[in-house]
Amino acid sequence: MALYSEKVMDHFRNPRNVGVIENADGVGEVGNAKCGDIMKIYLKIENDIIVDAKFETFGCGSAIASSSMATELIKGHPVSDALELTNKAVVEALDGLPAHKIHCSVLAEEAIKKALKDYYDKNGIEYDKTKFPACEDCHSCCSTH
Ligand code: FES
Repeated sequence: MALYSEKVMDHFRNPRNVGVIENADGVGEVGNAKCGDIMKIYLKIENDIIVDAKFETFGCGSAIASSSMATELIKGHPVSDALELTNKAVVEALDGLPAHKIHCSVLAEEAIKKALKDYYDKNGIEYDKTKFPACEDCHSCCSTH
């Protein structure tokens, strides 16, 4: 069996939603200290719906495919759905990732969560703090906030 599914290769070769959203409503940047890869997600949110999502990923092919798929999965969906997006859902949508590449999909989940937290904070919206790991409990984020 090939190491990477056709979907992973497709999203790696033709990533969807690459780029920057100027004046985004939420921005989240995370990194993995071990591999050094960095992912930044931009969200445009109107009436609680994610009308656009873009990403910049400086990382491996699995991280690029994960960001591409994750942005596709949340676009057009309510903020509450995006908040529930797990790395497992991203991996499933990609038809799997090799075990040693699962952490790449975790970056996508975390970057989206961070962008949503940014949106809540910017707009003074109350949110369930337990949905977001406290910084000191999270070992993957290398940004300076
Ligand atoms: Fe670091 Fe894939 S190897 S995110």
